[in-house]
Amino acid sequence: MRDPDDLGTSNTSSNLSFEAIVAANPARRRFIVGGLSATALALLNGCVAIQRQGTGRAAAKAQFTQPEITFASIASSKEDMVRVPAGYRAAVLIAWGDPISDGPAFKQDASQSADDQLKQSGMHHDGMQFFPFAWADRPDAQPRAEDSQRGLICCNHEYADDGLLHPDGMANWNAAKVAKSQAAHGVSIIEVQEQNGRWGVARPSKYARRITPNTPARVAGPAAGSALMKSALHPDGVNAHGILNNCANGYTPWGTYLTCDENFTFYVVNQSGTIPAEQKRYNINDKGQGYRWHEFDERFDAAKHPNEANQFGWVTEIDPFDPHSVPVKRTALGRFKHEGAMTVVAPDGRVVVYMGDDERFEYVYKFVSRDRFNPADRRANFNLLDHGTLYVARYDADGKGAWLPLIAGGGGLTAEAGFPDQASVCVKTRQAADIAGATKMDRPERVAIHPVTGDAYVTLTNNEDRGKEGKPGPNAANPRAQNIYGHILHWRETGADPCATAFEWDLFVQCGDPAQEQADRKGNIKGDIFACPDGLWFDPRGVLWIQTDAFVREMGRPEFANIGNNQMLCADVTTGQIKRFLTAPRGAEVTGITMTPDMRTLFVNIQHPGESNTMRNDPANPKAVSSWPDGAAGQRPRSATVVIQKEDGNVIGT
Ligand code: FEO
Ligand code: CA
Ligand code: CA
Repeated sequence: MRDPDDLGTSNTSSNLSFEAIVAANPARRRFIVGGLSATALALLNGCVAIQRQGTGRAAAKAQFTQPEITFASIASSKEDMVRVPAGYRAAVLIAWGDPISDGPAFKQDASQSADDQLKQSGMHHDGMQFFPFAWADRPDAQPRAEDSQRGLICCNHEYADDGLLHPDGMANWNAAKVAKSQAAHGVSIIEVQEQNGRWGVARPSKYARRITPNTPARVAGPAAGSALMKSALHPDGVNAHGILNNCANGYTPWGTYLTCDENFTFYVVNQSGTIPAEQKRYNINDKGQGYRWHEFDERFDAAKHPNEANQFGWVTEIDPFDPHSVPVKRTALGRFKHEGAMTVVAPDGRVVVYMGDDERFEYVYKFVSRDRFNPADRRANFNLLDHGTLYVARYDADGKGAWLPLIAGGGGLTAEAGFPDQASVCVKTRQAADIAGATKMDRPERVAIHPVTGDAYVTLTNNEDRGKEGKPGPNAANPRAQNIYGHILHWRETGADPCATAFEWDLFVQCGDPAQEQADRKGNIKGDIFACPDGLWFDPRGVLWIQTDAFVREMGRPEFANIGNNQMLCADVTTGQIKRFLTAPRGAEVTGITMTPDMRTLFVNIQHPGESNTMRNDPANPKAVSSWPDGAAGQRPRSATVVIQKEDGNVIGT
């Protein structure tokens, strides 16, 4: 995501119970793989399914052998290109403006209309997932290598750069430009196939579709039909529209896509002069982030329609295999600036979803379903995410932690406190988590779950405000003031059961540069240096992939001189060794990641090449920073999905 200078902090809660505890012993012991009473196993179509398989250390050790990560790591880069290790190749699959099916081709002068854009890939690719077609038929199946040649990709388009999107940028702003900007947001579903070792988009495809902020959608779960979801524009609180600022993602074991609204408040403006507390807590202000949608679309005027902002901030579930399916907002998973939604099947069959709220001093959450996954009947799971318990994390200074349930009527979530029902907890999740006493984190981005041990990892991308005057100071889980480099935190649920309400945690890595003089900026990376971890994902082998999102303005600082462009690395979580695998073009961030079941094709998203400090390119000089991927012939840099394969056809990472 972008983190502009005026992002600010909306968490002014007096929830300082934890911050008051100075870390008596900040050095966290490393967990040793093998100390599990329940061991893990089995990927279920790429979703982690923790199963009880014997007990004790011996069983766990027997189950997990760290795979080899044998490629030769690459140097950091400031070049305007994608670099991968020797023996690998990277090719663009689909870039902003390319047709998703039989739509019009991209025009370098950006003269395509909003209607054209609706038939083309959106801008600023983010989270994504590959769905083999077999998934729709066999939800109980293990991933099979033979399902790796054809499938659907769901891809988020987090935001738009209106400086690039229109021939004259944001000059002469009008309703048509707002419509085109909205059409560049959302999700693309494309059909992809491999032929003779090369991947391409299947065109036309009956599955190809775009989902945008204007696509009809449905509200489900506790907030459906509640007064907080009703507005003059959406009077029943059930029939809704769209998704917005979809950053990272998730997927369910029944083969549906989860897309996560992140910075939805960038588009919402309240110029009434009196912004209510419930809007302030989500950082709604009088200017937004300059998208100017509210000038032509009153949904985004929070003074006129205060409940319209409650339409966003959700995890939305999409069935990619049914091109006519209506996206469903799963309100039981809470409303905040969602990063991803990492799904795990617990030993007893309940489904657990891990989520971060990416803003400074916000929280880590998980949802535990009430009902159990039914592997025999795909559609029987379609409402599984509507019933369950939402928890928020507290990381204690002694290395232990607790999941605090957010249930109306319990733990201070009373009617007097503003929570007369679960709908209000779901809509005002941040305020509920404040009352619960959650730990204020350094911008929680994605959670990854180890496919064998079930251990959890979360990226805390950075937080320069930590310790500043008037802001919370360091705590054990976020131990650095002015944390410009970020860190990755690890925890293990009690009994390796994702439904547990207690866990033990430690710090996996603190990013930094050993060349820095300031002690706490050296970091403790073993291997190749990086900063601002954001994307995080375990492949089926148990290799941890880390993607970075340092901003242009940060890269210009002396502390980032050795770090280079944003990049993707992989980690051996048993040794902590980290190797650089990919470097991105100038101004870009590395976002989505997904693999075919045979692990021989890796799809990675490159987002916002050429982005400047202002988040918007100068339309008069679009190549100022980057012209990737079209190079010298191109005029505008474009976000794109990149296919990475090994020249010898072997597994990625070897
Ligand atoms: Fe869209 Fe939190 O990154
Ligand atoms: Ca992100
Ligand atoms: Ca980010």
